[in-house]
Amino acid sequence: MQKFIVDGGMPLKGELSVQSAKNAALPIIAACILTEDAVTIENCPKLKDIDAMLDIMRHLGCFAEQKGDVLTVCCRDVALNVINSDLTGKLRSSIFILGSILSRCRRAYISHPGGCEIGLRPIDLHIAGLKALNVKIDDDYGVICCDGSDMKSGIINLDFASVGATENLMMAGALLDGETVIVNAAREPEIIDLARFINAMGGRVYGAGESVIRIIGVKKLHGCIYKPMPDRICAGTYLAAVAAAGGSVTVRNVVPEHIFGMTERLKKIGAKLNVRHDSVRITVNERPRPLHKLETNVYPAFPTDMQPQFSAMLTRATGSSIVVENLFENRFGYTAELAKMGALITVKDRVAVIRGVPKLSGAVLRASDLRGGAALVVAAVAAEGRSVIYGTEHIDRGYEYIERAFESIGASVRRVDDSD
Ligand code: UD1
Repeated sequence: MQKFIVDGGMPLKGELSVQSAKNAALPIIAACILTEDAVTIENCPKLKDIDAMLDIMRHLGCFAEQKGDVLTVCCRDVALNVINSDLTGKLRSSIFILGSILSRCRRAYISHPGGCEIGLRPIDLHIAGLKALNVKIDDDYGVICCDGSDMKSGIINLDFASVGATENLMMAGALLDGETVIVNAAREPEIIDLARFINAMGGRVYGAGESVIRIIGVKKLHGCIYKPMPDRICAGTYLAAVAAAGGSVTVRNVVPEHIFGMTERLKKIGAKLNVRHDSVRITVNERPRPLHKLETNVYPAFPTDMQPQFSAMLTRATGSSIVVENLFENRFGYTAELAKMGALITVKDRVAVIRGVPKLSGAVLRASDLRGGAALVVAAVAAEGRSVIYGTEHIDRGYEYIERAFESIGASVRRVDDSD
């Protein structure tokens, strides 16, 4: 077991470059099943969630090897092994591998992904969408058994613009005869990246990034070399840390329009921003101003995956802020840890009221989910004194060596073995 030791309270300075997006890379890796050829993914971050997805790919008989930041995946043959709960439990988004297996093999068996620490994460939209493509689905003691022998392209109307369901269905339609249409599709940038990837393999996906996506099935897809988009949530995390701790930092490898929801709020809290075509320089010299209301929702609204890190920053604001979480029902767990640092946060259901305090103090903290864990690092970097953060494995799911990123902007974040 490892922990982070953070000596906080210093303004941040310097520059860093953001990794490729976990949430783009994961569906892209799943989509490698769509072709028998080898696929090379460049700039692939080293993350626990990526490792978990690669374990699933290997379990299905695919070759997968990550050397440095280059990942090679080759699914020449796909074995229809049951993806059991040991594998789905490590990666809840494992469910979106269903679409690609079905598209390629017309059958798939996967254990329920189960609940998770931020909410229930049902899969009804994935199932309803696959059923609309004529997939027969049975639940056999917790294993979802999919028979796609009569699969047909069709129109799918999503009741909610789910990111994972949209990705699953894009993959499901990629090799079907005819046109599959997803109505009320999610519009997150990662959806566009997946469409680009499928199209780089010879697929025909149109309209990604809009609410109607058309997928014209092709007979075969081929290998390609692909570099996933920059991680907008990592970018936002580092920007939030500068807003919380103060300082001046250039964050490189960003797509400014992807983080518009964050940069607009950062301006409101008083940050000075210099936005270039692929970088943002943030300068913050005073305590952040409060945000009247910060509400999460589907893209292009403020992302739920940034709610904890922004809330951590707002604990130091000069007044009270209200944060509303609309996507997941249980995403304020980390606030109890922030309270140990002197933060004043009251949570009721999906609303948090944060009364800003002049300073946070270092404390012993435990991360229990990925973004909540990142919020603890943000707070610890801004707090005076030493914090110890347990539960690093949650943070490692989505941040490639977060301690190095913070070290490069002048923070003191050290990873140590728990026995040290
Ligand atoms: C993806 C992201 C995750 C992010 C989320 C919302 C990946 C790997 N993960 O997760 O980081 O927080 O988008 O931006 O890309 N829902 C249902 N039924 C379903 C599917 C979803 O009710 O079948 C609900 C969920 O419980 C949740 C909401 O829809 O309340 C959003 O979920 P969804 O967009 O599917 O998120 P994920 O794809 O799981």
